[in-house]
Amino acid sequence: MFPFDVYPLWDIEPVRGEGCYLYDKNGVRYLDFYGGHAVISVGHAHPRYVQRVTEQLGRLAFYSNAVQNSLQRQLAERLGEASGYPHFSLFLCNSGAEANENALKLASFDTGKKKVLAFGKAFHGRTSGAVAATDNPKIVSPFNMTPNVEFAPLNDIGAVEAKLKTGEFCAAIIEGIQGVSGILMPSDAFLRQLRACCTEHGVRLILDEIQSGYGRTGKFFAHQWAGVEPDIITTAKGMANGFPIGGVLISPAFKAVHGMLGTTFGGNHLACAAALAVLEIFEEERLLSNAAATGALLMGALRSVAGVKELRGRGLMVGMEMEKPMGALRSKLLFEHKIFTGAAGAHVIRLLPPLCIGRPQVHELVEALRKAAESE
Ligand SMILES: Cc1ncc(COP(=O)(O)O)c(C=O)c1O
Repeated sequence: MFPFDVYPLWDIEPVRGEGCYLYDKNGVRYLDFYGGHAVISVGHAHPRYVQRVTEQLGRLAFYSNAVQNSLQRQLAERLGEASGYPHFSLFLCNSGAEANENALKLASFDTGKKKVLAFGKAFHGRTSGAVAATDNPKIVSPFNMTPNVEFAPLNDIGAVEAKLKTGEFCAAIIEGIQGVSGILMPSDAFLRQLRACCTEHGVRLILDEIQSGYGRTGKFFAHQWAGVEPDIITTAKGMANGFPIGGVLISPAFKAVHGMLGTTFGGNHLACAAALAVLEIFEEERLLSNAAATGALLMGALRSVAGVKELRGRGLMVGMEMEKPMGALRSKLLFEHKIFTGAAGAHVIRLLPPLCIGRPQVHELVEALRKAAESE
């Protein structure tokens, strides 16, 4: 048997990581400005993370959600404090798509309605409801297609109002910053208008912070820059630095009923230990402040790079839209300068580094970009 061939692969095999660097099987070092798609938050093989996960593995890796698990309660408490949502509750699952799936289900149970409003160019994952709310027909199978999801253009409150006032919608779901589509930002004013519009029409507001959350923009969640409070927040990626986990943060307006949500693996002991280690490291190393400061430094430095049409993003979530297709430039960064970056479409280079990145790494990237652009 072979792996099902759905991923175009670079011919590089990282076998070890340390902080914001990866090493391939030949010992070649790569600077990680991609974070395995915004997943590596505290850095590769962080000693405290390794110790916490290893200790837990030796003690108890898993038992089902039928018994007490104080690690889940510790994680909920710590995440509530760290994120500024101590009054919310936490449901744990295993991935971003699954978090969105549960969020949509909760909103539907709660309101008794079935329509969901999503936004143009959105990406919410690949499971049934999450992919239906994703604006990319190439990854939506006929089975997933549903009239229950409608789309409005991002930042167009008139279009939102026209849909929500029909009274048919249970939820509006929006990314804190659209990641997969190339770092497209809902304006702070739009997020505030959306919040008000959802409240007015009894629609639950779901903030998908799976890529933009967990400190990436310099605040715990990207929507906190706009000062709004959603009804539900979904998170995954950076939450356990690569250990699979997803979380749904749920406002006190929702009533939990036994059996309404559930999962076998979600909230297992090992995942909770990994997620707790991440939050401990966030605090000790002040990674949110670092994301804000290093992000500002990065943005400033990228302005001097030739061929950039537009720079978008916040903190360490940056989209560099190039005037020309960026494929050759990105390959040069990887194969000549040994720097991993992300992509969106043909023109946007996405930078989603570990949150422990600093000034030397920003310098290394910008120098490489200059050299690579000169030799184009
Ligand atoms: C905004 C957003 N939502 C949801 C997902 C899906 O997460 P997962 O791949 O963990 O299911 C992603 C993944 O890229 C994402 O960026």
